[in-house]
Amino acid sequence: MTHVEHLSREGTFDKNRNMAATSAKYLSVWDIQAYYGESFIVQGVSFDIHEGEILALLGRNGAGKTSTLRTIARMGNPELKHGEIWLDHQPLHEMKAHQAAQNGIALVPEDRCIIPGLTVEENLKLAQIAPPHGWSIERVYELFPRLKERRTQEGTTLSGGEQQMLSIARALCRDIKVLLLDEPYEGLAPVIVQEIAKTLEMIRDQGITTIIVEQNAVAALKLADRAVILDIGKVVYDGSAQEVLDDEALRAKYLAI
Ligand SMILES: Nc1ncnc2c1ncn2[C@@H]1O[C@H](COP(=O)(O)OP(=O)(O)OP(=O)(O)O)[C@@H](O)[C@H]1O
Ligand SMILES: [Mg+2]
Repeated sequence: MTHVEHLSREGTFDKNRNMAATSAKYLSVWDIQAYYGESFIVQGVSFDIHEGEILALLGRNGAGKTSTLRTIARMGNPELKHGEIWLDHQPLHEMKAHQAAQNGIALVPEDRCIIPGLTVEENLKLAQIAPPHGWSIERVYELFPRLKERRTQEGTTLSGGEQQMLSIARALCRDIKVLLLDEPYEGLAPVIVQEIAKTLEMIRDQGITTIIVEQNAVAALKLADRAVILDIGKVVYDGSAQEVLDDEALRAKYLAI
């Protein structure tokens, strides 16, 4: 099946779905084009997310997944030169990173960025240093009992899975609307992946919208409501996550699984 067949089929699906739920459209990414210097990397990416949805953003190495997340979070690098990003009626495309963060975007990068020398609880408290505050630390501990057990331990000495939990927990301590997760399952054992997936479902049930970028595409697709697949900086699929799981040819072509 060609790119175009996928796009037109999914385009039709999307149009119908959006007609039913236009008002629920929450994060809209429209034709974003972003560059590292002269390198044109995010080549006109568009997709919508509804409030409380989990979207899996997938694609091979170098497809532009991290660059797309960084563009949405307005990191500046890559530089957004065209297109619009709207979150809950706010124009993120007109904002810098700190303004996008104040408007509810939280990017959890691949390296997790736990602050050395601070305990688990100090890492969480630091996230609450400036308003607007999100979840209380007690509420975060209810979701992540392992972090409560390790509250006095230095954050950088946690296991990989616990560090990932801490970086998600830290994001929730701020008042966020959308969680952007870059490879949260990287390097983690399957049982820990399952534990984090369960937690992400609970976070969705509390109204947070999530984009998950993952090399572990099957795990991300099982978690997600919808999937967008990128290839060389462009969207080649936008549709249900289950359909990607069911479509072996599509997975082989764009995900090499
Ligand atoms: N800082 C940078 N400067 C120049 N080019 C970059 C930079 N970061 C990434 N790129 C290029 O942009 C393209 C997309 O990279 P990106 O990191 O967004 O891909 P990805 O889909 O996240 O890949 P992976 O699965 O390996 O994490 C790649 O060709 C990469 O070499
Ligand atoms: Mg990446």
